[in-house]
Amino acid sequence: MMRIKILLTLILFTTFFYTGCKNQLLSDLIIYENKADSIINLMTIDEKIGQLSLFTSDWSTTGPTMRKDYIDLIKQGKAGNIFNAYTVDYVKDLQKIAMEETRMHIPMLFGYDVIHGHRTIFPIPLAQASSWDTAAIEKAERIAAIEATAEGLNWTFAPMVDLARDPRWGRVMEGSGEDTWLGGLIAAARVRGFQGSDLSDKSSMLACVKHFAAYGAPQGGRDYNTVDMSERSLYEWYLPVYKSAINAGVASVMTSFNEIAGIPSTSNKWLLTDLLHNEWKFKGFVVTDYSSINELINHGVAVDLSEAASLSINAGVDMDMQGSAFVSHLDDLVKSGKVSEETLNSAVKRILVAKYELGLFDDPYKYCDKKREKEEIMRPEYLDFAREFAGKSCVLLKNEKGTLPVREDIKTLAVIGPLADSKADMLGFWSAAGQWEKCVTLLEGINNKVNGTVKILSAKGCNVNDDNTSGINQAVSVARRADFVILALGESKEMSGESASRTDIDLPGVQIELARAVIRTGKPVAVVLFNGRPLAIQELDEIAPAILDAWFGGTQAGNGIADVLFGDVNPSGKLTMTFPRNVGQIPIFYNTKNTGRPINPEKPYEKFKSNYLDSPNTPLYPFGYGLSYTSFKYSVISLNKTGFQKDDHITASVDITNTGDRDGEEIAQLYVYDLVGDVTRPLKELKGFKKVLIEKGKTVSVTFTLSPSDLSYYHTDMSFSFDPGDFELFIGPNSSEGSSVSFSIL
Ligand code: BGC
Repeated sequence: MMRIKILLTLILFTTFFYTGCKNQLLSDLIIYENKADSIINLMTIDEKIGQLSLFTSDWSTTGPTMRKDYIDLIKQGKAGNIFNAYTVDYVKDLQKIAMEETRMHIPMLFGYDVIHGHRTIFPIPLAQASSWDTAAIEKAERIAAIEATAEGLNWTFAPMVDLARDPRWGRVMEGSGEDTWLGGLIAAARVRGFQGSDLSDKSSMLACVKHFAAYGAPQGGRDYNTVDMSERSLYEWYLPVYKSAINAGVASVMTSFNEIAGIPSTSNKWLLTDLLHNEWKFKGFVVTDYSSINELINHGVAVDLSEAASLSINAGVDMDMQGSAFVSHLDDLVKSGKVSEETLNSAVKRILVAKYELGLFDDPYKYCDKKREKEEIMRPEYLDFAREFAGKSCVLLKNEKGTLPVREDIKTLAVIGPLADSKADMLGFWSAAGQWEKCVTLLEGINNKVNGTVKILSAKGCNVNDDNTSGINQAVSVARRADFVILALGESKEMSGESASRTDIDLPGVQIELARAVIRTGKPVAVVLFNGRPLAIQELDEIAPAILDAWFGGTQAGNGIADVLFGDVNPSGKLTMTFPRNVGQIPIFYNTKNTGRPINPEKPYEKFKSNYLDSPNTPLYPFGYGLSYTSFKYSVISLNKTGFQKDDHITASVDITNTGDRDGEEIAQLYVYDLVGDVTRPLKELKGFKKVLIEKGKTVSVTFTLSPSDLSYYHTDMSFSFDPGDFELFIGPNSSEGSSVSFSIL
């Protein structure tokens, strides 16, 4: 024991001296790798395996807690890392065990699902994406990291970047929607927000991009289900979003539960080693999802847990989350030669390097500062930003005859619906250490806003998801007494998120009956929608004069939505996921192909064309769609020229005029269509956007610059390049509207 302490001190001293000498030739990574090697040389196989293990404490788990004895495991050096444990006192106690009661004194990582805020909860990620504001997204993650690190955490299991085209899948709430390019920008912003500019800063934490790979494409939208897709789709649509997080320096990657083309991700050597490490040069470590090594047995690729452990570590997994597979079997596997000591050491090294990068070896208690914990949580400026972000994330889906904002002269306002005053639902799923008691509901937000100047009536009308209609009459009589009605409808927070797939994504329960009855009173009605996924609300769209999609806005939801309803904030959010008319249209997304039998839009039901007998092909609300209280007019597009050489820049501009009567922000979008390719190309691909504030009556010129290489795609032989030929370029307010111009690459 003494000998090891002396040796460790010697190593630390030598390295300190080494760093002090400022040997510019060695990067931090090499220094940390050398330090890690020195430690690995002193470790037993069991101690190494301990570093590769991650166990949950007994707090907020997302699966079966397999071990209740995590404290003993830490003592025995078998749990090198813990998740679902936070607060300074708790983390300090556990870290102390690792530092004082284990032979190697190696500090532990403390992980947690900090997905959209830690204590101050921001809108759900899909809502954040609707702001198209990467700076705001980065700021939200920075605040989340400050709060989480102040409570002892040093690792978040985020960002979740799984591209998704199927709103039945409940986890769409956790991602950025259906577009690869936009998803990539957001993924990078999230990584920057969590990790900051220096991982060793006390407010930085390791990020973990997940779920690698293609977890967002389960068959039938059913969580954990099989994924099967072409190599081209995987490369073109799904992988680049993870790659963007890797390029932004994400420190860890989580494997996905699913298989792709018959190979579960957790045992996929091509994915975890050839692609991730060798091709993409990822330097961090790979952790499994919750007991996904064990699930290799259910997948039918391993006969028992020992084989599952061997398959996964040999494929490139470094850390076993909660499965006990490594703790139970790696020792034998190494001794029998089924897993080489080199493989074991590489995995340990990657994890130790991450601990060095965080500065945990210098100070294992650096995240255990009571003063920070007291000062950094839910600061007023974080709450102000949460309110601003809740407003920015709202998408105005319909606004007939300027129903919204609420007119200033109303005397009585009714706030009706099962989600009008539901604190618990405001957080949305995956709300980390967020406390629902501290949330502002819609009713509270409205009361705060009108501050006694308007009489507020309220009624629940019905529950979110049952068939009890007994409250509808009372809701109708409340509506009759009001000059204006706000109807709060949608899903409860548990209806999206993990293990929350739905086959019917219309309004649940009897809410549509409530809506019909209230709207029938003839009062002006604005629906505020709470949802963790696009909903198929065709009837609601037909009958409601106005619909504002507020998603789940987090701690300050009610105040942020009230800002929009009363016109203090002009809505500017736009959808990053298509809203279908009905479930039968799913999967539905904007970047579809032409097919050999495209429809004539004038004759959508023509026989022998690619269509349905009973539904248009078009969605209810397309990707990129969202209204404002003002209106914008786009000029024709001007291009710098129409024929480009391969090194030229393509510059496209439009003038956008605010033709309404209030200032507003517009998200102008640029799409491209490659008319003839080596393989078929989508009719539209997002290649740029600009979010601009335009004062009423003013015109702003917006310019986009592309280079021909931005038009690259995977060819028949999977080479990535662009072709000469003809293209169409669109600029407009969403993926369905706007004008276009043609150009060629010569
Ligand atoms: C989820 C992960 C999450 C993990 C730990 C799993 O069930 O799929 O996204 O990070 O639990 O909570």
